[in-house]
Amino acid sequence: MKKSDSNSSEIRNTFLNFFKKNNHEEVESSPLIPHNDPSILFTNSGMVQFKKWFTGEEKPLFDNVITIQKCLRAGGKHNDLENVGFTPRHHTFFEMLGNFSFGGYFKEEAISLAWNLLTKEFLLDKNKLIITVYKEDENSFKLWKKISGLSSDRIIKISTDDNFWSMGETGPCGPCSEIFYDNGSEVEGGLPGTKNQDGNRFVEIWNLVFMEYEKHGDALKNLPGKFVDTGMGLERISAVLSGKINNYDTDLFDYLFEKISLETNSKMNDDVLINYRIISDHLKSIVFMMSEGVLPSNEGRGYVLRRIIRRALLNVYKIKPNLIILNKLVDHVIEKYRGVYYELEKASLFIK
Ligand code: ALA
Repeated sequence: MKKSDSNSSEIRNTFLNFFKKNNHEEVESSPLIPHNDPSILFTNSGMVQFKKWFTGEEKPLFDNVITIQKCLRAGGKHNDLENVGFTPRHHTFFEMLGNFSFGGYFKEEAISLAWNLLTKEFLLDKNKLIITVYKEDENSFKLWKKISGLSSDRIIKISTDDNFWSMGETGPCGPCSEIFYDNGSEVEGGLPGTKNQDGNRFVEIWNLVFMEYEKHGDALKNLPGKFVDTGMGLERISAVLSGKINNYDTDLFDYLFEKISLETNSKMNDDVLINYRIISDHLKSIVFMMSEGVLPSNEGRGYVLRRIIRRALLNVYKIKPNLIILNKLVDHVIEKYRGVYYELEKASLFIK
């Protein structure tokens, strides 16, 4: 895959084909509303639908699985709502590409699969990749050295929660290893673990979690086995593979910018850039939430939806007051995603 000709559909396909070739079963995205799980409001990552496979409450149907999971981070432990539009890569709605192992493999194969997909299929230059591991996880450090051949200074040991991932206040968790892409020295930002790490130079593209524990408040108990949970944001890898620094500069957003411009009769310039970004991000959340039957209300999920609609409306208002356009944009989102998420099309009228 050459950088210049990659778009989000090709990336989804390359990801799926690679893992299918490597003995993974594709499982469909679960809904944004987790079933039978009061611990979270929305599906915030690919592992949510497999929570009971990790904890041993249910027997896994497959050893190795891949998903393209629709996710929402707009409430609870993982909440990016306030950042949307102001940073290059925060979204309320996004898609997570993930491979999972429920006993089929652990660290070595997870690292090797991730490395091969990035460097042999996506053809990323290995000199642009930086790895982080949890400080106490010496084994992952050694495996990365062996598999990637990267020098020790490119495999950074991190002692904070950044390298210990948990689903929420309760649920499966474990140390993780993150893969970062270097956007180059002309972009501001420091290495992971430094005080400038939030700059745009080094972007986290993939998180490999080695699930070993289950969290209950501060207490950790062992899971019944050692499992793998990974997540790569489609929006981020799309930006990297199209040579962009900002996720909003990819095909996952540009079609909506065009339509917002038409509907508001405005040009997307620096004055309204953030408004365009917020509207497009929020619109996707609105469409996906409503396609699952969520309605605006005063509490819980409905309240999150209501806040998102209100923010989207406010941002339309800032471009041009008194325009009703969100309903006119719904079909464009559906058109973009209907080949992956079949539930969208039949919900179109209801959403509008
Ligand atoms: N569950 C992990 C994450 O969301 C992979 O980053």
